[in-house]
This record gives sequence, structure tokens and C-alpha cells, in this order.
Amino acid sequence: MLSRDSHGRALVAGRLLTDILVEAGAETPAYVYDLGAMAREARELILAFGDQPQLVAYAVKANSAGAVIRTLGAAGCGAEVGSGAELELALRAGIEPARLLLSGMGKSALSIDAALMAGDRGILAIQVDSVDELARIANRARTLGRPGRVALRLNPGVMAETHEAIATGHDDAKFGIAMRDLDAAFEALDREGAALQLVGIGGHVGSQLVRTDDYLEGARAVLGVAVTRPGLELVDFGGGFGIDYGDGCAVRPADFARAASKLAREALPGVTLVVEPGRSLVGPHGILVASQVATKQSGARRWLVLDTGMTDLLRPALYGARHRIEALLAAPEPNALSWRVVGPVCESTDDFGEFALGEPPPRQVVIRDAGAYGYTMASHYNGRGYPTEVFVHEDGRVTTSRANSATSWVDARSAT
Ligand code: LLP
Repeated sequence: MLSRDSHGRALVAGRLLTDILVEAGAETPAYVYDLGAMAREARELILAFGDQPQLVAYAVKANSAGAVIRTLGAAGCGAEVGSGAELELALRAGIEPARLLLSGMGKSALSIDAALMAGDRGILAIQVDSVDELARIANRARTLGRPGRVALRLNPGVMAETHEAIATGHDDAKFGIAMRDLDAAFEALDREGAALQLVGIGGHVGSQLVRTDDYLEGARAVLGVAVTRPGLELVDFGGGFGIDYGDGCAVRPADFARAASKLAREALPGVTLVVEPGRSLVGPHGILVASQVATKQSGARRWLVLDTGMTDLLRPALYGARHRIEALLAAPEPNALSWRVVGPVCESTDDFGEFALGEPPPRQVVIRDAGAYGYTMASHYNGRGYPTEVFVHEDGRVTTSRANSATSWVDARSAT
């Protein structure tokens, strides 16, 4: 989504990034999203399923901006949500209840109620994370007089090759129903009778998967259970399609789609295949723009301090993730003088890593691949405001949102 003109200046959606920022009246730090590129990403993925009945349920936790959900909904996606609040966001963005799934462990009664009461018959499926949760959903369903459409989320026992913090389908992970507890889950379903309707089986083995085989191993486990339950509407293989953060990840979302469709078609022809991509639809199509606050020399090390940090983009601090950082007005030069780029927050892990940015270092930089799990994981730590978001729409319009400034934070905290 980020390209360069002949002078090396950064372009977003083919337009000068500096012009976009001026048009938006945006100050840094600012996320800038290319909504057209997100829409194209979604359409390309949907096409890769061929004639397989499918639902690409966008994982809203990756980027919950209304403009992003509306764009992906219009491009043909449903949504996977992790809370009642995300559910409400997706509904307001125009996603139909019949194209919504609620996942997550420890669902609140409010979230369950929102899922049961959406539309005429609730959402497509509540993904059940444990045997105990079946009873909780059934109780709410009886109280509200709405049968709960549920899908069991399996923990297939697959240790996916990814960062350990985002592998979710292995025996030690807190997520999903272990294979050995499945009989208990089916017994619980029988006990609850008409309060629950089993509509599907699902799983999610992890995020930022760089090969399809772990995904397919999870998918096989899901299908192995699904074929024993005639009459299901859907199987759900989860999200997790990896993107290239500059480390050469070569697998494409369409590779996952093609391989998953083949498996599903062979095992259960006609059943809807649900996938839940978040990162791959939005990650590459968002950047974080930041300004230089200070430089600092200590011993042999040169620090470049930005006005953004872990409160805006937590991934480097939390997972040691590397996001490429480049000058806004010049293309990268690999052999330029290198700087240790850090944020202003009082944490040693508020550190983006070493980048060849040259001398003098740029006044403004772009941090790549920040469209997923960026703004949604932001915090007010150190009394910092949330970053601005700028949306470049498919028709060229530029809109912006400024939420939760440091001033409103001071008001809220001093009122305690
Ligand atoms: N479905 C379920 C049930 C999930 O838990 C997730 C992500 C997804 C779908 C979407 O996965 P994706 O396609 O985005 O990989 N904060 C971490 C990622 C956490 C992922 C949580 N679950 C990061 O920044 O890498």
C-alpha cells in the first residue's frame, strides 16, 4: 500500500502522503489506511474460493474502525467479533446478523445476549469455547426465549509455527474445547435440548501463520469432527493468514483459501466454509506516521526518539515484532547510518529496533504494516492520547478521526 514516487516520497493509494496528511489536518502520530487496498484484498480472497460456499468473516479485533468494517462488508465480508461491543460495531457498520460470528473465551452475559438478540434469529453462530460455556449460553437462551445457534470451537492440539504468544490451537493454550472433552460437549448439547442448535464446528490454530500446513492440520481436525454430525451449516477454519512484515513471508491469503476449499469440498460438499482473517485483510494497508522528537547519543549508540511508541503500536514491545521504519520523504537506503528507533514511553521495551535512516535522520517516518493490531491495542499509558486515524477511501475522499485525546484522559482521570 505504501509506494514511492520518482523522488522517493511516500505515496498512499497513489497520492503523496504529505498531501493526505495536510488534507486531513492530521498531526502525528497518525495511522493512515488505504481502504481501497483493503477492499481489493478482500475481493481477491473471496474469488480464491471459486464456487465453494464461503463466508470470509473479517476478524474485527485487527482493526475495528467503522470505515474499515464498512469497507470490508461492502466488499463481501461478514465479521468475526470477540465481544458484545465489537458485535455492535459490526452491526452498525451494516454487517447482517446472519454473517456474524462471536468468538472468545469468557464471554460476558451481555455479549451472549447481544448475539442471541441480533436480528430475527440471532447471529450466524456463537463459537463455544468450553463445555461450561454451553450451559451459560443455554441459560441465557432460555431466559430470552431465543434458541442459541452455536458452533463448537475445537482446540485441535496443533502447535503452529508462529510467535508463541499468538499460537492458540495447542494443548497448553487457553482457547477452545480439547478433543478429549468433545464427548462431554456433545452430551451437554443433548442435555440442553431446544435451547441450543449446533450449526457448526470450528477452530483457530494461531495468527501470523507463514505456511498453510498448520492451518490445514487444524482444518482436518475440524472436518474430522464435522463429518460425524450430519446437518451442519458450516465449518470454520479460523483466521491466521500471515503477511510479509519484510521478513519474506511468501504465502498469500489466496493460498490458504484454495487449500481450505479443496479440503472442505472433499469432506463436506455444500457446507459453508467460514474463514476469519483479520491481519491479512488490513495489516499491509495501514501505516503509522510519526515525527522525530529528539536524537540522543549515548556511548556508541545513536537513538532516534519518535512521538509514537508502544502506546500506539504495541507489537514490538509485546512480541518483539519488527515493523519496517522508513523516511517519509526518501526511499530507504540500506547502507545509510543506522539509528536505534524508540518511543517516548517509560519502558525499555518501547523500542522499534535498529533502522538505517541516514544522517541527519528524517524529521518524519512511516512505520509499515501497521493496519492490524495497531490502533486496536493502543493505550493511554503515560497519559498519552490515542493516535489520529486517517482513512483514504476508495473514491479518493480523505476522512479522519481523533478519539480520546490526552486532554480527555486528564478530564476522566481527575474526575475519579
Ligand atoms: N479468529 C479468532 C478466533 C482469533 O482469535 C483471531 C485472532 C482471528 C480470527 C484473526 O487472526 P488473524 O487473521 O488476524 O491472524 N495481537 C496479535 C494477534 C492476536 C490474534 C488474536 N486472535 C498480533 O499483533 O500479532
